[in-house]
Amino acid sequence: MPRKLILTVGALLVLLLACGVEGQPPAATPKTFEAQDFSRLKGMEGFSNQALDLHFALYQGYVKNTNRLLEELQKLAAQKQLKTPAYAELKRRFGWEFDGMRLHELYFGNLGGKELLAPESPLLKKIQENFGVFDKWAEDYKATGALRGIGWVVLYEDPVSGRLFNTWINEHDVGHLAGCQPLLVMDVFEHAYLPDYGLKRAAYIQAFFDNIDWKAVEGRLGK
Ligand SMILES: [Fe+2]
Repeated sequence: MPRKLILTVGALLVLLLACGVEGQPPAATPKTFEAQDFSRLKGMEGFSNQALDLHFALYQGYVKNTNRLLEELQKLAAQKQLKTPAYAELKRRFGWEFDGMRLHELYFGNLGGKELLAPESPLLKKIQENFGVFDKWAEDYKATGALRGIGWVVLYEDPVSGRLFNTWINEHDVGHLAGCQPLLVMDVFEHAYLPDYGLKRAAYIQAFFDNIDWKAVEGRLGK
């Protein structure tokens, strides 16, 4: 057999194997999510290590459950159970667990800072454009965090209009602004403040403000 033909047949065989025996692409093995390590926050003023450890454990639960949900959904799909109530309920649940995971990563990721927002910072300019002065923005962000209920406050940047919004997120999944970039994320579930502050949520919010990592927040701008 001519060498050129052998090579062509070989290439075809490799292609067939890559595509699976019946022309279907091989099932991809999805990557599982892994909990990030935020132990660098230990010792942060205004947050006890005990409260942080509790919070890290809760966060790890969201990572675990996000992976579990994905696995269960994949199993049901493989069993052709796509139209079952079980599949529907797990689908609905997915956003709650995923957002719980991701919001905690953003929250811990924007903590641990010691410096104020620099006067020449593009983020400060953007806050001033949207809210007039920094203090007015901060007052609104804190007031949003004081709303009755459990959830999050997210400073969102709308890439379409360039505007900033202080947004209340109910639980983990209700109220997100489609297509917007989260810049500063604050957890106001009771587990975030009860261990150190009891019902004094405002004191916790102040401690949060005292520890914002503005460099991390700025790094999210325009992404
Ligand atoms: Fe939390």
